[in-house]
Amino acid sequence: MLVVGARPNFVKAAPLLPAVAGSAVVHLVHTGQHYDEAMSRMFFDQLGLPRPDTNLEVGSAAHGAQTGLILQRLEPVMIEWRPDAVVVVGDVNSTLAGALVAGKLNIPVAHVEAGLRSFDPTMPEEINRALTDRISHWLFVTEPGGVENLRREGIATQRVHLVGNVMIDSLRRFLPAAEKTAALHDLGLEASGGRARPFVLVTLHRPSNVDAVESLLPLVDALSEIAREAPVLFPAHPRTAERLEQFRMAPFFVQEWNERGAGLRITPPLGYLEFLRLESCAAAVITDSGGIQEETTVLAVPCFTLRGSTERPITIEQGTNTLLGSDVAALVRGVREALAGRGKRGRVPDLWDGRAAERITRQLLQDLAS
Ligand code: UD1
Ligand code: UDP
Repeated sequence: MLVVGARPNFVKAAPLLPAVAGSAVVHLVHTGQHYDEAMSRMFFDQLGLPRPDTNLEVGSAAHGAQTGLILQRLEPVMIEWRPDAVVVVGDVNSTLAGALVAGKLNIPVAHVEAGLRSFDPTMPEEINRALTDRISHWLFVTEPGGVENLRREGIATQRVHLVGNVMIDSLRRFLPAAEKTAALHDLGLEASGGRARPFVLVTLHRPSNVDAVESLLPLVDALSEIAREAPVLFPAHPRTAERLEQFRMAPFFVQEWNERGAGLRITPPLGYLEFLRLESCAAAVITDSGGIQEETTVLAVPCFTLRGSTERPITIEQGTNTLLGSDVAALVRGVREALAGRGKRGRVPDLWDGRAAERITRQLLQDLAS
């Protein structure tokens, strides 16, 4: 049984299904944590995911209520289907809930993207990561630091497998299709010859950045400053769109680029292929996403992360990521450098080669057969 619920889960789950096809039957559960067309269905369509066998339709709620509802609705499904293993991915509430239901039913759990730690206990994802790892039988890790974290927490080494990164499996598989989209053209970011004009791509959705006006306002101010010099495109997560509305920040944004081709422009969340196309062509990416720190590293696009910590330190040590906390002056300086072609280029971490899902399913099937 493969349990998914939120946008990044879909991207990570997509390579696992073809990798296991023919060797095991998979029951796909969608918890319904994300449900908007642009946060869910679009990803199933573009990533070639089958319709979920079960949709728990839990929707949005406070953490306890959302996690609790998944537990309540998932348990009878697992009892009915009694899978040999349950696979959960990433660090969202659906990940922890899936692992917890399986753990209590003594069904072995595989955690894909195990071992990552931001060491910031105020992040809800940090709780989800640590508890999911505690329950898991297989811990599939993306970077060596994750193996070290698990060793320090006393998790048996034979359960821990450094396999690479399924999010990068999807990136490599879908980049050719992304290149065929009209995203650059449709968003007015195309220069002559089909190449991209220099532009900046932004995503923000962490509660610590977007939920309080005191955190969000300086960020939007900094984006507006950058937008005097270059087009800044901000596909807003629904949480962020709600806050921008609530804080009456609409005047900061334009609907079309100005006469100099610049401005700060907001859009709804983009489809995976369109987003990937823009990400691969951007002069710089500004984000607080987890997965986007990894994708930009592989795409060799400078990434500026507006967080105080990252659970993905390899993107800083080897990749293109720079951690800025809330230092907006450093953000403006860094993005200017990147727009001038002087950003980090980095290298691709070992095993981020598009074959992580293959390694994961080989290990799982081998252990389940023995
Ligand atoms: C969740 C994850 C976060 C992940 C992010 C990926 C947790 C604790 N958080 O955060 O780790 O980085 O997904 O995008 O699991 N909403 C909609 N439509 C949707 C989904 C959400 O309008 O389809 C709005 C609702 O107002 C909701 C809010 O966004 O209350 C937050 O959604 P939620 O799933 O609770 O958390 P995210 O911020 O999306
Ligand atoms: N993404 C997308 N459209 C968008 C923004 C992000 O397809 O408008 C993709 C992005 O390429 C990556 C994933 O969504 O594959 C990251 O999800 P998100 O940032 O929501 O979650 P996180 O990684 O922070 O948990």
